Amino acid sequence: MTRPSVPARVKVWDMPVRLFHWLLLVLVAFSWWSGEEGNEWMPYHEWSGGAILALVLFRIAWGFVGSDTARFTDFVRSPRHSYAYFRSVLQRQAKAYLGHNPLGGWMIVSLLVVLLVQAVTGLFGNDDNGYEAPLSHWVPHDVSSLITTLHAYNFDLLLGLVGLHIAAVATHQLVRHDDMITAMFTGVKTPVAGATAGRMASNGRALALLAFAAALVYGLLRIGGGPSGV
Ligand code: HEM
Repeated sequence: MTRPSVPARVKVWDMPVRLFHWLLLVLVAFSWWSGEEGNEWMPYHEWSGGAILALVLFRIAWGFVGSDTARFTDFVRSPRHSYAYFRSVLQRQAKAYLGHNPLGGWMIVSLLVVLLVQAVTGLFGNDDNGYEAPLSHWVPHDVSSLITTLHAYNFDLLLGLVGLHIAAVATHQLVRHDDMITAMFTGVKTPVAGATAGRMASNGRALALLAFAAALVYGLLRIGGGPSGV
């Protein structure tokens, strides 16, 4: 008796993308909490924001030199293509993608831009309660306060995008039975008709890029008077 064949799995997300994603989630949650707490938590908030900045800079670089599915050229499609995909979703005829689909791709780009704005504005802020971010003295105090306001509004935008992102992933998972969440942990998925597995870049390259991004952020904090000691 022949056993039913188990569908082969194909590698979609490399280790750097998966680590980036779940670390980002933890750091965003921690930054939210520590920012709300304020006071003695501000130095930790600063470190966590710096780590987010390093991760986002790493991910942007990985979008150019990383594995095929991590590259912007793989998932940033033209507005016309993305609109056509959107219409096909409404007609329940959407094509399946191995990596990010066209709408998911734009969501990723939006998240990265908003996260970058969030981390950079944080470097120039103050809390009007004794805490001044490392680069706040590069600008006049009222400009620093204005940037802090932008930091707060941009966070609301980030929360909105994250909510949309989670809703889209959950809908996709429930309606199309595409186990995207497990794939973000394991890196593998059931193959999609017509899609071939892409090349995976080495973890060593990712580590070198991450080290470079972290050194860049640390250097920036040092130039600004040093990261807060915690
Ligand atoms: C602070 C919260 C979150 C942020 C900032 C965030 C951000 C991101 C980013 C930037 C990516 C792109 C990954 C890459 O290509 O490098 C992504 C993908 C993804 N995220 Fe999240 N995420 C968050 C929470 C979550 C949660 C809670 C889940 C699970 C329920 C989730 C599930 C996924 C999945 C499945 C993908 C892959 C989507 C695809 O296949 O196109 N995310 N997320």
